[in-house]
Amino acid sequence: MMTPDDPSATAEGPEAESPWSNTFYGRRKGKRLRDRQAELIADLLPRLRLPESGPLDPPALFDTPVDDIWLEIGFGGGEHLIAQAQAYRNVGIIGCEPFINGMAKLLSHVDEAGIGNVRLHDADAVPVLGRLPDASIGHAFILYPDPWPKRRHRRRRIISDATLAQLGRVIRPGGLLRFATDIDDYAAWTLARIGRSSDFIWQAACADDWRKPWDGWISTRYEQKAFREGRKPSYITAIRR
Ligand SMILES: C[S@@+](CC[C@H](N)C(=O)[O-])C[C@H]1O[C@@H](n2cnc3c(N)ncnc32)[C@H](O)[C@@H]1O
Repeated sequence: MMTPDDPSATAEGPEAESPWSNTFYGRRKGKRLRDRQAELIADLLPRLRLPESGPLDPPALFDTPVDDIWLEIGFGGGEHLIAQAQAYRNVGIIGCEPFINGMAKLLSHVDEAGIGNVRLHDADAVPVLGRLPDASIGHAFILYPDPWPKRRHRRRRIISDATLAQLGRVIRPGGLLRFATDIDDYAAWTLARIGRSSDFIWQAACADDWRKPWDGWISTRYEQKAFREGRKPSYITAIRR
């Protein structure tokens, strides 16, 4: 029987899927932070950071009551996360991003705009999934995850049967997983895993649904780079059954 943590059960063979732990393979640091960014990492991040270990109680993370909790994995510079936090002040948003320069950019916006409904994790998002209670998240966003296009590196992709199973556990029925990529092979990879997941169903309103951005979509930095380089995005929405 195919199980989420049995990589040999996948169509691509034993090396294709990401293991449970150590699912971050990217860079932690880029160029030197400006003084103000370094201050925000030192002073503001500790106030917004998730507790280091143990089960999470998402509503209790926020200073004021929230109507829902959303999760963004790999928010990069935070363009989408910030826009969502400003548009939905009644929603608590948990953002995960190990790249410190991206985190610093997001913190600058949080600081300048006085945003209170954001909590942050500056490391791999996958262990966070394991700490979230069942059905505790309304929507989750994975926007332009690292594509790992080489066949031998595909097992590093954040989307795997295992992470989808965890997302299926934490997203409540009726909630959404939104996934965007500019790599056709990654779109097909993700749709294949959604198709065989018992938790999600791909929502496509029409034949080219996946070519259309979501209503109110805020383009990200990485998407702009994809456009400049001539790549076309795919926008995939999976509904939690
Ligand atoms: C290609 S960038 C896209 C950033 C942003 N979403 C955008 O569209 O501009 C992918 C991001 O995912 C982050 N990332 C990669 N693996 C991750 C993981 N396991 N947990 C959380 N973030 C991760 C990387 O640090 C990187 O910033």
